[in-house]
Amino acid sequence: MVEKLAAAKMRLLVTGGAGFIGANFCHYWRCRYPQGTLVVLDALTYAGNRASLSSLEGQACTFVAGDINDTPLVEKLLQEHELNTIVHFAAESHVDRSIHDPDAFLNTNILGTHSLLRAARKQWLDGPQGVIPHRFHHISTDEVYGTLGPQDPAFREDTPYAPNSPYAASKAASDHLVRAYQHTYGLCTTTSNCSNNYGPYHFPEKLIPLVILNILHGRPLPIYGDGQQIRDWLFVEDHCQGIALILEQGVEGENYNIGGHNEWANLDIVRLICRLLDEAFAADATLAERYPHAAPSQGKPAESLISYVKDRPGHDRRYAIDASKIGRELGYTPQHSFEEGIRKTVDWYLQNTGWWQPLLGEQYAQWVQKQYAS
Ligand code: NAD
Ligand code: DAU
Repeated sequence: MVEKLAAAKMRLLVTGGAGFIGANFCHYWRCRYPQGTLVVLDALTYAGNRASLSSLEGQACTFVAGDINDTPLVEKLLQEHELNTIVHFAAESHVDRSIHDPDAFLNTNILGTHSLLRAARKQWLDGPQGVIPHRFHHISTDEVYGTLGPQDPAFREDTPYAPNSPYAASKAASDHLVRAYQHTYGLCTTTSNCSNNYGPYHFPEKLIPLVILNILHGRPLPIYGDGQQIRDWLFVEDHCQGIALILEQGVEGENYNIGGHNEWANLDIVRLICRLLDEAFAADATLAERYPHAAPSQGKPAESLISYVKDRPGHDRRYAIDASKIGRELGYTPQHSFEEGIRKTVDWYLQNTGWWQPLLGEQYAQWVQKQYAS
């Protein structure tokens, strides 16, 4: 076992920090620890957005544009900034994209994770000072466990892996590599497997932000198959809290499931968002001026945009997370009810047009069109 690293002494490399959860984590960590080194490494793929970090860059956070597969760059960053903690978010994260084009998923999620592990091993275990206190925390997903039937118990840390999509398989492979580096070389690692997140800075290809923005633009709300697939939704800040607790107190070599005990069928979530936006338009007349194409501006309920489309191939029916281990061992409890989290999220998208408007460019429009066509 490597000597435990106190949280206040952690000097962080956050990979994928310009993505949805990574950016939220940087904001969360900075509030919790106003001092200390925080370096973000992000390749700024279509999903990376530097604007999500704009209020942190400079004093509070150093941004480096680069690929996690560039091992010499990672080694240089670890050395130059004397980093002793990696919080690894960087990934290709969208299941639909992994079905259309799996290669990028294998490259980033598997080889990229290995590149980081190799650099960490060289720097923290085999460097000139010998073994130095360190932590490699790997962010993973509940999708590695496969799918559940309606009556099955929720995923636990000892549920066997059964990934069903190329995305889930690539994440499962990366989890195994992290485990192997701890077991074989003694790298101090922890892994967390979280359920579906929602909240600010979420790229609008994923269900919740896609539905919000499509309602505002009067576009169809695509429901895959019968819309009865179930996901366990967690407000992103609550995920960040779980990661912080693991960094502070998590035991080397352990996996922790993080979730919200909050299962919803997709169709019910979409209907809820429709209701919240109908209410928002009814309460604020300026919204109809800003979004003249929105269904409520045209005198129609947002639900009238719901459109059933072809199902996702191999679509997992149900996910549910048993988060009792992190609750029991690290004192984790989500701080946001779903009602509160989803209202905050809808409000955030209504108030932060400047963040999402540039994303609705040509590339995104083509992607959305392809979805409707298939
Ligand atoms: P995201 O797609 O929003 O962000 C991924 C970030 O990684 C982007 O900023 C992107 O530019 C960056 N990136 C991609 N390839 C890179 C590379 N080769 N080198 C450096 N940076 C690269 O993803 P997210 O939703 O924020 O997910 C973050 C992590 O959390 C992922 O590992 C994902 O598997 C995991 N996760 C996500 C959810 C969820 O609901 N979104 C739930 C559980 C786990
Ligand atoms: O469970 C954790 C996972 O959650 C993460 O590991 C992934 O990175 C993250 O993208 C998310 O995966 P999902 O596939 O569950 O998320 P997505 O938002 O793509 O879809 C949520 C559900 O909604 C899923 O059952 C598919 C469905 N869906 C999605 C879209 C985009 C639709 O019905 N219509 C849509 O247009």
